[in-house]
Amino acid sequence: MKISYDPALPITDRHDDIAAAMRDHQVVVVAGETGSGKTTQLPKIAYELGRRAIAHTQPRRIAARSVAKRLADECEVDLGAEVGYAVRFDDQTSEATAIRLVTDGLLLAELQRDRQLSRYDTVIIDEAHERSLSIDFLLGYLKQLLPRRPDLKVVITSATIDVERFAEMFDAPIIEVSGRTYPVEIRYRPPAETGADDELDAIAQAVSELPNEGDILVFMSGEREIRDATDYLNGKKYPRTEILPLFGRLAAADQQKIFSNHPGRRIVLATNVAETSLTVPGIRYVIDPGFARISRFSQRLKVQRLPIEPISQASASQRAGRCGRVADGICIRLYSEEDHDSRPEFTDPEIQRTNLASVLLQMASLDLGDIKDFPFLDPPDSRAISDGINLLYELGALDAKKSGGRGLTKIGRRMSTLPTDPRLARMLLAADKLGCLGDVLVIVSAMSIQDPRERPLDRQQAADEMHRRFREPDSDFLSYLTLWKYIREMRDELSSSAFRRLCRDEFLHWLRIREWHDVHSQLRRTAKEMGLKPGTVGADPDRVHQALLSGLLSHVGLRDTDGREYLGARQAKFMIFPGSGLAKKPPRMVMVAELVETGRLWGRTAAKIQPEWVEEAGAHLVNHVYSEPHWSRRRGAVMAREKVLLFGIPLVADRLVQYGRID
Ligand code: CDP
Ligand code: MG
Repeated sequence: MKISYDPALPITDRHDDIAAAMRDHQVVVVAGETGSGKTTQLPKIAYELGRRAIAHTQPRRIAARSVAKRLADECEVDLGAEVGYAVRFDDQTSEATAIRLVTDGLLLAELQRDRQLSRYDTVIIDEAHERSLSIDFLLGYLKQLLPRRPDLKVVITSATIDVERFAEMFDAPIIEVSGRTYPVEIRYRPPAETGADDELDAIAQAVSELPNEGDILVFMSGEREIRDATDYLNGKKYPRTEILPLFGRLAAADQQKIFSNHPGRRIVLATNVAETSLTVPGIRYVIDPGFARISRFSQRLKVQRLPIEPISQASASQRAGRCGRVADGICIRLYSEEDHDSRPEFTDPEIQRTNLASVLLQMASLDLGDIKDFPFLDPPDSRAISDGINLLYELGALDAKKSGGRGLTKIGRRMSTLPTDPRLARMLLAADKLGCLGDVLVIVSAMSIQDPRERPLDRQQAADEMHRRFREPDSDFLSYLTLWKYIREMRDELSSSAFRRLCRDEFLHWLRIREWHDVHSQLRRTAKEMGLKPGTVGADPDRVHQALLSGLLSHVGLRDTDGREYLGARQAKFMIFPGSGLAKKPPRMVMVAELVETGRLWGRTAAKIQPEWVEEAGAHLVNHVYSEPHWSRRRGAVMAREKVLLFGIPLVADRLVQYGRID
């Protein structure tokens, strides 16, 4: 391996300090501007110190690959020899590999087989400021492991965001790498002032405002948006300009293109990966629409989603910084200065955004021990923990209400591999078993997004009339299927602009419909990878509802014979939301997708169910109460009266059973 350092990189000035700190301390924190050389140079410093088994983690696959490639080039070795990478489904390492680029998720998975991380002598946790669940898990695990592995060295790197937290956690020194940056002019161009039609138009206007020379980096929220923008900007036929997409699922060769020399101008359309993990060279201008897909657990929707959200001020300044590296830059923000100033300073760590049940499930499947003892940087509160444990028990993911994860069931393990909220994951697994996964995939995807049916305040009646066509009398879940079939038909029949118009006229939110499709295909793909059989839509509705029910056992309600009010789990009282197809003629027993508190408790998205289904799906939760055992001469057995309760809801009020079978 050839080890040399580029004198132009800011980190090179601190080389000796970093090496000394690594010699003297078990953990070192290196903070510095993006592009200062942390990712590419730190593993070389570790190598120079004699380290030969270095794990170097990246939050994203695309970065793991491209950093490995870059490092192999710099060290003049073949990729997969001394420098390699391993991501899911793709391992480019060998016996000779001393520097191993991995995703943080992959290192977590390795922990299960190698509890001491004995195959490594050094771990570099890169991009720790991202504070994903994986990073928080790794930091907590390392904190526990380090006393038992005194020979293991850890380097934590972070953009200059909240670095002291890491240093305090490990009692580690911080080495700041000063970036050499040029001034960046910020221009605010909110759509209200430019009169832009939509985001694509606003981007095009920003492009035309910038000089014809110099590469532009545009931050987009996802692959879909990038594809659309690529087509749109290609249509503009800018002279001597190449439009380059950059996102995780892009083929490796296409990703590599951003690092190649090129004539003319480039407009790079990238996801958040270009914010801190990948430095696209030669960028002079940045266009920042101000959004990103952020993993967030919605309290209201009770699902794990990846909604597109306004970015924090810290992210905005990182993005702007991407064009001040080689010369003065200009960053055009497609929002107003007031908007910027009203945004949160930082993005919350994922653990604070995620359903605790989901965190618990991940911890159990990774065998990380009891959540209450785990040294989290931001420990979750105990109330949320016990709610999460109860929910997992309800779903049959844990076989006892312990937080140690010892009781993880087979179902729980499978649920942990599905990228949805645990309730929805449970539904998908039940659906597979009942042969109705095709239908449930559609419904679960719909539950993962905001309702695509729009109801503008001033046109509520017109909207309701349009939406009534999709209504199903006994099930709001089935109306998702009806809507889905309609949308699919129309999309096949109409041109894309005609389809957009139809959506507008019929009060359907086009972007959310698109998101519905995206979520659906992602879930379907994951389900297939897990060996489930998606099939098609059109299964027996009873089965569909039974599958949904296994995720909604604490969302069951029984109606008073005369009233409209339902008795729910743990004495909660709710009514069916007025927008539901069941509101007019509420059935005796229902399940609801969500319980919403607005003055009173409402059950939203409801379906009629049978008590027998609940008894079966909730067998691990129901209580049986017996009374009046007596000898029945006619049956020749001891008989008793049985009452079956689920969370206090009487599923069976009075049933005659043979007592001998129970006792
Ligand atoms: O990690 P940090 O953001 O501090 O910097 P880095 O990723 O190590 O990047 C240091 C320099 O290497 C930057 O100027 C990058 O543009 C360059 N680089 C590159 O040209 N090709 C790569 N595949 C990776 C980095
Ligand atoms: Mg980096």
